[in-house]
Formats: sequence, C-alpha cells, structure tokens
Amino acid sequence: MSLSVVILAAGQGTRMCSSLPKVLHKLAGRTLLEHVTRTARELTQKVAVVYGYGGDVVPRALAQLGVRWVEQTPQFGTGHALLQAMPPIPDEDTVLVLYGDVPLISAATLSKLIAASQHGNLGLLTVILSDPSGYGRIVRDAQNKVMRIVEEKDATAAEREIGEINTGMLAVNAKRMRGWLKELKNSNAQREYYLTDIIALAVRDGVAVNTVFAENEAEVMGVNTKVQLAGLERHYQRMQAERLMTQGVTLADPARFDLRGELTAGSDVEIDANVIIEGKVTLGERVRIGPYNLLRNVNVGDDVNVQSHCVIEDAVIGRHCRIGPYARIRPGTMLAEGAHIGNFVEIKKSTVGAHSKINHLSYVGDTTVGREVNIGAGAITCNYDGVSKHQTVIGDGAFIGSGTQLVAPVKVGDGAVVGAGSTITQDVPPDVLALSRVKQSTVPGWKRPVKTEQREKGKGKS
Ligand code: UD1
Ligand code: CA
Repeated sequence: MSLSVVILAAGQGTRMCSSLPKVLHKLAGRTLLEHVTRTARELTQKVAVVYGYGGDVVPRALAQLGVRWVEQTPQFGTGHALLQAMPPIPDEDTVLVLYGDVPLISAATLSKLIAASQHGNLGLLTVILSDPSGYGRIVRDAQNKVMRIVEEKDATAAEREIGEINTGMLAVNAKRMRGWLKELKNSNAQREYYLTDIIALAVRDGVAVNTVFAENEAEVMGVNTKVQLAGLERHYQRMQAERLMTQGVTLADPARFDLRGELTAGSDVEIDANVIIEGKVTLGERVRIGPYNLLRNVNVGDDVNVQSHCVIEDAVIGRHCRIGPYARIRPGTMLAEGAHIGNFVEIKKSTVGAHSKINHLSYVGDTTVGREVNIGAGAITCNYDGVSKHQTVIGDGAFIGSGTQLVAPVKVGDGAVVGAGSTITQDVPPDVLALSRVKQSTVPGWKRPVKTEQREKGKGKS
C-alpha cells in the first residue's frame, strides 16, 4: 500500500484574533503545522499541504518542511480544499486527510486509521465528547452502521444530542475519493463543499465506513482559540515532563517546566522550577539547573551547576562549570572545564579556558581567555569601535584587576597582571604588571560645598 497524506491548512482561524494564519501559531516552540507534518512524515514521504489564507506566508515560513504546497484560493470548504491536492495522487494510493490545526495526532492512531481503510473500506477517526458542540456529528443507523456526518449548523435538535463527533481525519482509496469529491454540492448552511458529505456517498456505493476511536481526546483536539492552544500546550508539556521524569530527570515541579525543542539528559540531572529549554539542549550527568533559567541550543558537560536567573544561548559549557546567578552567556561561547561565571556577567563569542573565573559584573566579548585567568569585578572588553568588532586575547594565568577596560584589539600575555582601574590600549607582555592610572592627588585646604539654606541658617545663629 502506498500512502499520500493531505493536510488541510487553508483556513484563517478567525477565532484566534490574529493576523498570523492559524497553523503558524506555536505549540511547544513549533508551529501547529510542523507538528502535524512531522507525524505525517513518520508514515510517508508523500505529504501535501493545502494553504490559502495569508497567501504564501505559510509556505514561506515553513519552506524547510519540504512538502508539496497546494494553493486553495478562495476557500470553498474542506471538500474543495482536498480536491485541489488530488490531481498528482495515483489512483491506487490510500489518501489520509489530516488537519493543520489538530497538532497532537499520533502516528500510532493514524496507523490504525489506515488499517481500517484497507480492502476497499473507508477509515474514519471519531471520538465521543461530553460536549460535542461545534463538531460534525456521526449519524449511525439502528444496526450502529455509520450513515453520514451532519455538521452542527445543519443538524436537527435530535442530531445535536449525538456525542460521537467527526475528528475530520479519514483514509480511503484515492480513486474512490476523487470520484466522490466531484459529486459534492454546496447546498448547506455554510455554502461550502463539505468533505464530510463523502461519508454518505461511500455508504451509497456500498463502501464500509470503519470507525477508529482516538485513544485520548488531546490527540484529536483542534486549535480554534488561544484558550484551546494554551490548554493543549499544558497537556503537551505535562506529557514531555512525565517522559523525562520516567527517564530519571528530577523536575522540581513538572507544571513549571517548559521544553520547546529536544532535551537529552544524563543521569541524576536536577531541574528546579521555572526553567525553559529551547532548541536542542544536551545536559551531562549530575547537572543541576537552578530556578528561572533559559537554555537555548546548549551543550552542558557533567557536574555543571547553573544557579538561578541565567540566559544561556548557543554555547558549549564544559564539565564542572559554575554559572550564575544572573549570568548571560551569548552565542558562540565556549567555557572549558571548571570555569566560573558569576553574577551580572555577559559573555559573547568567547572562549574561556579551564578553571578561569569571571565572577562579577563583567562584559567579555570576542575574547579568548586562557586557563586559570582571574578577571576582577567590572572588567570590560571594549570590542566595538562603532564600526567593527575586535579581538581580545588574555593569556594563561593572567590577572585582570577590577574595573579594567581592555580596548581591543589587544593582548595580555601569560601570567601578566593588569592593575585595577586600568585602561589597556596596548599589548601587555607576559609576566609584567601593567597599570594605566592617573596619579592620585590631594588638594589641601579644599572645602566641601554647602547648600544655600544651610548657609542662611548658619548666619542666623551667629
Ligand atoms: C470540520 C468538519 C467537522 C469536524 C471538524 C473537526 C467539515 C465540513 N467539517 O469542521 O465535521 O467535526 O472539522 O475539527 O469538514 N480548510 C481548508 N479550506 C477550506 C476550509 C477549511 O483548508 O476551504 C481547513 C482549515 O484550515 C482547517 C480544516 O480545514 O484546518 C477544518 O476547517 P474548519 O473550517 O475549521 O472546519 P470545522 O468547521 O471545524
Ligand atoms: Ca476547526
């Protein structure tokens, strides 16, 4: 059996109250459409996406998905949408229809749906909801055979009582589908070509409609509003958190943990509350991430301790490093083993050697820091002259006094000491003391200025 998937995603999503097409809204850091596409890709390489609202905003935003894009303008309904994607699909294929706004459908459930459609049958994914309002209802006969689907807007009061609803997802042979789509009429409440009307046509043609029940509701929940989006986000985060805990990660509070990407963690990793992980993050063994941290595309070695309130992005952190609280590690940073980065320190595009310490209030950018270097409080690499960025090199074992400015391009040799408060504009040779301070002076007989009213008061007394 060869499978073609068509994902319907041309609608606007009016109830999102957003200028962004609905399928571009994000769940766990990924667009809704990406979620569906990734799942479809687990089943087949032949994936088409029907887009429309917003023009080519959707295909441009998701060009990397590598799907077949099919435009549907104007949008005359779900049946009309599927029809646009059908021409290149071979007659013998099974067509599986998915929705761009139903992001959490699983490949396992879809495999069951496909199986239900084999041997000339039609597979229809349904679910029973305590509140079915808004959905198309599954109408069955006295023998419990599916007869048709009725949209809520076209349903009678009795039909609205039906709890079994149409998830929209179905699978059937392509040739059959093509024939039925051509027969669709738009004589209904919404003046649309309803894909759901093919069910009655299948029944007419003696094709068995096999229903598959979704395993859990979240799998088939559509996103129509931001409230629903947030609800699914929490559900998804909960599932991810449980998976990580099952693998041995300690989460202080799974309800206050957000993973928007992929996390790989070694054993005995502890993550405190309110940590956000984005992109691809790898944590070594015994890593401890304190509260309120954001890590994006980071590789963290064993035994690293990230204290609270740090932002670490596109960086490699060697083992035994200690970071924070309140540190910002920017893209292109590499910390070697045992480095300490303290509070209010910003590091950008720099390499920090093993066991070096930058503990307080510093900016280090475009810099190579050697091993066992100590950079005092408030030291700054002046890497930007308003036009270009320049490099600073600090040799092994150097000591940079507090409040120093290193005006790049500049080099400080191995073992050199720069006195506190210096402005270094020329290279410092190894093992010397470099100082650039204005000589301190004392002004004899100088009097502190006095405020006028104090002077007046003083006069009255005398
Ligand atoms: C549809 C089903 C309904 C089902 C529900 C499940 C129909 C007629 N109704 O209703 O039985 O219970 O989904 O969520 O199919 N779309 C297009 N082009 C169009 C119209 C829609 O691509 O011309 C896309 C939308 O972007 C969306 C999907 O199809 O991804 C569903 O469309 P929507 O308007 O949300 O259908 P519902 O009224 O929810
Ligand atoms: Ca919908």
